[in-house]
Amino acid sequence: MDLTNADLANTGLTKKVALVTGASGDIGGAIARCLAAQGANVILTYVGAAEIAAQLAMDIEQAGGNAWAVQLDQRDPEAIEALMDQVAAKYRRLDILVNNAAWNIGIPFPNLDDLTADIWDRVLETNLRAPFLLARAGAKLLKAQPGSHIVNISSAGGISPGSSSIAYSSSKAGLNHLTRCLAVAMAPNVAVNCIAPGLVENTRMAQRLPDNVAQGARNQAVLGRVGQAGDIANQVLTFVTSSSITGQTMVIDGGMPGAMR
Ligand SMILES: NC(=O)c1ccc[n+]([C@@H]2O[C@H](COP(=O)([O-])OP(=O)(O)OC[C@H]3O[C@@H](n4cnc5c(N)ncnc54)[C@H](OP(=O)(O)O)[C@@H]3O)[C@@H](O)[C@H]2O)c1
Repeated sequence: MDLTNADLANTGLTKKVALVTGASGDIGGAIARCLAAQGANVILTYVGAAEIAAQLAMDIEQAGGNAWAVQLDQRDPEAIEALMDQVAAKYRRLDILVNNAAWNIGIPFPNLDDLTADIWDRVLETNLRAPFLLARAGAKLLKAQPGSHIVNISSAGGISPGSSSIAYSSSKAGLNHLTRCLAVAMAPNVAVNCIAPGLVENTRMAQRLPDNVAQGARNQAVLGRVGQAGDIANQVLTFVTSSSITGQTMVIDGGMPGAMR
């Protein structure tokens, strides 16, 4: 597929190319469907859930969109470079990178001994190092498209100390700051923003939260509801259709006072 700038004169995201990591997950799937519905060609990554990713790609194609599901273990720096080479060869452009994939495991904060070095490394490599490596590997393609975007999916646990584990909370705090650093590093052609969801109902990741953490999020949401996957997807769309926002983190959690900054 060889797209020209004339193709991109269309409104919406028609013919733009968006890479959504972790699209086999609940929130990534919603983001991919949303961007595809706006006309973007979507690249969907998964690490193990090949069938879910293939079904998502089929659904998008049947709805008239264009999707490519591709396996990526984003803990592997060489795999990230290889994927970006494939993107360059197949599409010759990249307009949107959504760093959505992440890994968590429920370890209550006081259980320090349960948070092993291996778990720490797996969380940090997946949730923080990989978004940097994906941005770095995609920088040439993204910078070649003025008005391109990176959106990082973080967590309210990266703002206030909570969520599934200390490692996860720390990884997301790092991702919030990586967003600001990349916004400076990749300007003016690439806007870099971040979404920090609180508890997102009906997701597998939310099910891995300790019960008291999940219920606490519901109780503290001043709007009386926490987020849904569609709320996150809509905010991604808002960021990628804006041309004057960069370096920002938007919390979507139903209004938890602890994450209001
Ligand atoms: N759900 C929530 O309540 C919540 C709250 C705050 C923030 N978030 C954030 O929202 C984002 C999406 O969460 P979700 O609820 O949709 O999670 P999810 O359903 O568990 O999906 C996680 C995705 O990440 C992929 N992944 C995991 N390890 C990977 C690796 N090593 N390499 C590449 N991909 C990998 C998974 O691939 P496979 O499916 O192939 O395993 C899956 O596609 C994450 O960044 C998460 O931290 C979620």
